[in-house]
Amino acid sequence: MLNLKIRALAEKIRDKGLRKKVIELLENPVFEIGGKVFSGLPLDVSPAGLSHHHCYQGGYMEHIISATNLALALCNSIEKVYNGKVNRDLVIAGILLHDIFKPVTYTMNENGNYVTTGLADYMDHLSIVISELVRRGFPLELIHVVSAHHGEYGPIRPHTIEALICHLADLMDSRLNGEVLNAAAYLVKKAVGEELPGLTSKEAFEIIRSKADEGWEGVAKTVEKIKKGRASRKT
Ligand SMILES: [Fe+2]
Ligand SMILES: [Fe+2]
Repeated sequence: MLNLKIRALAEKIRDKGLRKKVIELLENPVFEIGGKVFSGLPLDVSPAGLSHHHCYQGGYMEHIISATNLALALCNSIEKVYNGKVNRDLVIAGILLHDIFKPVTYTMNENGNYVTTGLADYMDHLSIVISELVRRGFPLELIHVVSAHHGEYGPIRPHTIEALICHLADLMDSRLNGEVLNAAAYLVKKAVGEELPGLTSKEAFEIIRSKADEGWEGVAKTVEKIKKGRASRKT
């Protein structure tokens, strides 16, 4: 079943036809090629990256929800401060779908680590989503928003305000998450002399907060708390 928060965001798309197409893809994000169906990790479980950002269970959902919030904040600023016009349907649809095929490129190995699938040896998430959007008859303007979400590192730079908003929101959220994870990892190493692998964003924010509130001792206490919590979940 589609995550309720994601569904609520998709429901904000006013254009009925586009909304229907977006929800259909969100509900069934499978990719078929040469008669073979690739489905990958469920959206609720998948990370949204393997190393730099959102690289833990549930990271994909966090990234999509946070990037949508940021994109809508940019829409507000453009409309209310700059008097600009934005097609919010394209922004919401674009940001909800921009990484929809990342989970199809991830799997979990026998050691419990997230790794790439065989499909990822041949296609990246951007090529997959573009071909699927074309196959499903999505409008060209939406296809552009998704194609341009990697900005200067992608196949095309953003040429519309909606594409620019999605690119910036994506960049902002991945950067925010990546910086917080890096900072927390640094604090842990410095406070207790060892690494705490697989940090989630919630743990990372807690570690950073504890440094601000109680210094290195606070970090060491939080690391202990996280370790205990993990151990009790395992038993
Ligand atoms: Fe992406
Ligand atoms: Fe993204």
